[in-house]
Amino acid sequence: MPDTTAKTTIELRILRYCPSTDTEPAFGSFQVPYSDDMSVLQALQEIKATLDGSLAFRWSCRMAVCGSCGMMINGEPKLACNTFLRDLAPGPVTVEPLQNFPIERDLVVTVGDFVKKIESIYPYVMPKVPKTVEEGTYLQTPSQMEAYASFADCINCMLCYAACPQYGANPDFIGPGAMALLQRYSSDSRDGGQQARLDQIRGEDGVWSCTAVGICSEVCPKQVDPANAVNQNKSNSALDFFLSGLRKESVT
Ligand code: SF4
Ligand code: FES
Repeated sequence: MPDTTAKTTIELRILRYCPSTDTEPAFGSFQVPYSDDMSVLQALQEIKATLDGSLAFRWSCRMAVCGSCGMMINGEPKLACNTFLRDLAPGPVTVEPLQNFPIERDLVVTVGDFVKKIESIYPYVMPKVPKTVEEGTYLQTPSQMEAYASFADCINCMLCYAACPQYGANPDFIGPGAMALLQRYSSDSRDGGQQARLDQIRGEDGVWSCTAVGICSEVCPKQVDPANAVNQNKSNSALDFFLSGLRKESVT
């Protein structure tokens, strides 16, 4: 545990970039008041309020729920709201935008590609047997809910994409977060969309692009274990390939 008792300030080195005026990103240095209970997000808010109002970063919930404050902190993908200065003292603390994404401005990255990937796997329950409102709700047992519960904790923070070397090398790779979300819905006893989702991930940039590094699960702040979702999808995809071969043979 670092001795932080005598500290009154801590240095944050923040990567700044405004595409319309800057030729390239460059670090800016800020001294902020230090306290043991201060998060990196609060330090950024302090800078914006008192030192430089032009600093751009995303945040909303401040409690590791919305997934919007992901950034590289001392080189690792983290949520700024649940990363504390006491664990980084005496500093300096380096803060950069999430790796593997284009910078929109300062610590804000472009999320359009990630959203497209999430949309491509049909992120909703596609009922096996559609019911009318009059027919009532779809009930589940606790063990049926258990099958997808951990994957349902994903907050779309993109930290796993920032850590993934395969996504860094090939931005078309569908990536770990989308695979976790796919597993959330395909493991749901009410869902009938498994085949449609498998069709989306069998291609070159789908599940087989994963090289099983596993760092996506290490950086996940919600213990979703996207690497496990990828592995389950590899098994499902292989089984689907085998069964589709059998189906073709039975037709000929
Ligand atoms: S799987 Fe984990 S790291 Fe990846 S987007 Fe979901 S919550 Fe974030
Ligand atoms: S502000 Fe919502 S996750 Fe950090």
